[in-house]
Amino acid sequence: MNNYFITQPPYSNSKKKFVSLINFINKGLRFVDLGYQVQQLDTRVDMNTVEQRINYYHLLTNIITSNVPGDVIELGTFTGQCAALFEKIIEVNASDKKLHVYDSFGVSFKFKGDIEEKLKENFITAGLKAPVIHRGNFFDTLPSELPEKLSFIHIDCGFGGDPLEHKKVMMHCLQSVYPRMATGAICIMMDYNDPAENGIAPNVAPGVKLACDEFLTGKPETIMALYGNTYLHAYFRKV
Ligand SMILES: C[S@@+](CC[C@H](N)C(=O)[O-])C[C@H]1O[C@@H](n2cnc3c(N)ncnc32)[C@H](O)[C@@H]1O
Repeated sequence: MNNYFITQPPYSNSKKKFVSLINFINKGLRFVDLGYQVQQLDTRVDMNTVEQRINYYHLLTNIITSNVPGDVIELGTFTGQCAALFEKIIEVNASDKKLHVYDSFGVSFKFKGDIEEKLKENFITAGLKAPVIHRGNFFDTLPSELPEKLSFIHIDCGFGGDPLEHKKVMMHCLQSVYPRMATGAICIMMDYNDPAENGIAPNVAPGVKLACDEFLTGKPETIMALYGNTYLHAYFRKV
């Protein structure tokens, strides 16, 4: 059985060179036979980076331990890579917060199969309580299917489409959740990329920043950019 070091390619390396390097290191590790291997994180499958998972852990733990009232939601859940982590954090803290997840399950990325079934299966495999699943387009499910009060929101609705379409979806999400956010609640936006903060990171979803900056104009909340390695995100806390 192997123990894994998880890694991900830096922007500057070509994928081919990086994979060759990992293969070379793994050959050496197999030779010394200590049971260690280097595994490459594929963010198109895993949907987030190790650094982002650390950010989620600390932000949601903070919400729970500071007793911010309201449930936890994710808008854009796919197979539940982030959602399973959120549920794990709820359970290790013995919190009574419920996890609600929202998705049309209509974008497959690289996945072949039934996305909603895979989401359910991932929770069962991880030994976690099933989330409340709201299947459908956000324009139909939000805000009517939202819990009354929200403490933690993750918006991750990138679908690789037109940035202005993405901006429209983000705007609808923000307008739906904002009035239900408790004081101190946190809203995290996946793919919020501020080049002034993050330099060379590629801007994979410019619609997120466009929507968020416009939405927060004239409001007391400010956006905090977080380091996430090859993927970026940011959050604001309800005043
Ligand atoms: C990048 S994936 C989410 C990844 C997920 N957070 C994870 O950790 O596995 C984006 C998801 O947003 C969903 N989505 C995008 N626009 C949507 C809309 N208007 N209504 C419902 N779901 C939407 C897509 O179906 C897709 O599953």
